[in-house]
Amino acid sequence: MARLLYIKANPKANDQSLTFTLSDFFIKQYQLSHPNDTVEVLDLYQTIMPIMDCERLALYNQGKETEIRHLAEQFKSFDKCVIAAPVWNHSFPAMLKIYLDNIVYRHVTFGYQDGKVAGLCSDMKVMYISTSGQPYSGNRSFLNHHVSQVEAVLSLVGITDVDSITLWGRNSFNEDQLKQQICLLQNQMVQKAKQF
Ligand SMILES: Cc1cc2nc3c(=O)[nH]c(=O)nc-3n(C[C@H](O)[C@H](O)[C@H](O)COP(=O)(O)O)c2cc1C
Repeated sequence: MARLLYIKANPKANDQSLTFTLSDFFIKQYQLSHPNDTVEVLDLYQTIMPIMDCERLALYNQGKETEIRHLAEQFKSFDKCVIAAPVWNHSFPAMLKIYLDNIVYRHVTFGYQDGKVAGLCSDMKVMYISTSGQPYSGNRSFLNHHVSQVEAVLSLVGITDVDSITLWGRNSFNEDQLKQQICLLQNQMVQKAKQF
C-alpha cells in the first residue's frame, strides 16, 4: 500500500481553478486504479507555513530547528507526490517555492557523500500538474522556469522520477477548444494515473 501526498499550490477554490480541474481528475483516476493506496492533501494556501528566517536559520545551523524539519520528514514519509500549481510570472506561486525550500533539509531529505549533496528521497516519484495563460513553446520556451525549477529542486533530494501534465496557453483557446484540450489531457491522465 503506497501513500501519496497531493500538494495544492493555488489560492483558488477547486471549481475556479483549471489546474485543480486537471489534478483532481488525476487523483480520482489514481484512486480508482490504486484502491488500497492512501491520498493525503496538503493545501499550501490553507496551511501556516514556517519560513527560514534569521532566527530559524540559526536554529537550523545548530541542529535545533523543529518545525521545518517536521515538514521535510513528513514529505519524505510519502512514496509518491502530486503537485498542482498554475504558472505565475513564468514560475509557480510563492507558497510552493517556500514549501520546496523547506523540504530540502539537511540530514532529513539530503546528506553528503564525498563532499557532494546526496538526496535521500530517491525512491519517491512526483507528478507535476500545471496550466498557463500563455504558451511556453517555440521562442517562448526560454521563459519556462516552472517545470525545470521543480525538477531541479527535487533533484537535490534525490528525486529524478518527475513527470508532468501541462496545459499551456489556455488564453489562446476558445471555450470549445479548451474543453477539447481538457478532454485530450484527461484521456492521457487515465493511463498516467494507472502507471503512477
Ligand atoms: C498572479 C498571476 C500570474 C500569472 N502569470 C502568468 C505567466 O507568467 N504566464 C502565463 O502564461 N500565465 C500566467 N497567469 C495565468 C495563469 O497561469 C492561467 O490562467 C492558469 O491557467 C491559471 O490556473 P488556475 O485556473 O488553476 O488558477 C498568471 C495568473 C495569475 C493569477
